[in-house]
Amino acid sequence: MVKNMDRKQQFIDFISERSDAELKEMTDNMKILMSYYRCAMFEIETKFRVLNEQFSIEHERNPIESIKTRLKSLESIREKTVRKEIPFTVQSIEDNLSDIAGVRVICSFIDDIYMLADCLTSQDDVRLICTKDYIKDPKPNGYRSLHLIVEIPIFLRNEKRFVKVEVQLRTIAMETWARLEHRMRYKKNLSNDLLKQTENELLECAELSNTLDLKMQDIRNKIEGEYI
Ligand code: GTP
Ligand code: MG
Repeated sequence: MVKNMDRKQQFIDFISERSDAELKEMTDNMKILMSYYRCAMFEIETKFRVLNEQFSIEHERNPIESIKTRLKSLESIREKTVRKEIPFTVQSIEDNLSDIAGVRVICSFIDDIYMLADCLTSQDDVRLICTKDYIKDPKPNGYRSLHLIVEIPIFLRNEKRFVKVEVQLRTIAMETWARLEHRMRYKKNLSNDLLKQTENELLECAELSNTLDLKMQDIRNKIEGEYI
């Protein structure tokens, strides 16, 4: 806490030591940077919409239930630079943070997650930076999703720029669990006993939710088998 206050003070000092011109330049650069991330986020969203469209024509069903996009707020970016002890500059943000632009794809079935991830990462303008498969290896609390960090080019007036986007792919059941867990995680003042009990129960819900996903996948496989 004290450390955080120190960092906050350092940030205040940093700002107060800048001239108006320097502050304006920083703000302008930050606005430009955020617009790159917004464009990259749109590009990835469009790529998924195109895949959904093509798949729905060829297979008469939609692998994507919904897509959500979010741009990290400047406040959260600042908080993360403080936490990671990195400078709050355009260069350092670009080099060190990979989740400024986020695209979440809610899929119908588990198989659709991997199919869509493969389709995206095999496109020749998409660079896969890293994959975290929390479906194969769920987090200890039960969290499941497939995370990809990708880089895609955005074409500006006189330059081509690669921008990172965090993609999270999950089923409807995984999304429901993650949203409720996220909301409850921030409930304060729980006794240690209740906290432990809540964690166990959430883990149990994650397992139930996974059973539901596997069962749904199984039913679909059987139905599709009928048509082959
Ligand atoms: P951050 O520094 O928080 O971005 O995490 P990280 O760099 O370790 O990446 P990770 O892939 O583990 O998580 C990134 C994002 O996944 C988070 O910002 C959440 O949106 C989501 N996420 C990860 N773990 C959990 C979890 O236990 N519960 C929920 N609800 N969401 C999670
Ligand atoms: Mg994050």
